[in-house]
Amino acid sequence: MEESQLEKLKESARQVAARAHTPHSHYPVGAALLTSGGQIYTGCNVESSSFGLTVCAERNAISAAVAAGATVCVALVVFSTNGATPCGACRQVIWDICGEIEIYICDAQGGTTRMRTSDLLPHPFDGKKLKDIQSV
Ligand code: THU
Repeated sequence: MEESQLEKLKESARQVAARAHTPHSHYPVGAALLTSGGQIYTGCNVESSSFGLTVCAERNAISAAVAAGATVCVALVVFSTNGATPCGACRQVIWDICGEIEIYICDAQGGTTRMRTSDLLPHPFDGKKLKDIQSV
């Protein structure tokens, strides 16, 4: 990916983190997802007073892209002040919807770590297994 494109994604993730709804954790996260059409879809974490209903920034960005009709994801930037890597639930959804993409973890000091989906989720479970049903 071009450096200017990455900078745009980073800025989008940082900006959307400022809109996070985090009355419980006070830990804002922003995510920006680039699709093959060049569009950027963003999401922030939205917390619930019923804690388990909280939705992470990554899954909100992915849902926005899906709702807009995007089908091919290229790269995901995740911003938090201290560089959070995606939680387990998000790793699964990133694999399910985006597949093997570039993922950049960014922090408020300007640090960026580049990885791929398979670095975060080796040996993933996915829909292919569901097509291979055998009796027990
Ligand atoms: N969170 C995210 O949105 N993404 C991550 O990568 C890690 C965790 C959120 C969930 C919750 O609102 C807060 O951060 C603390 O766990």
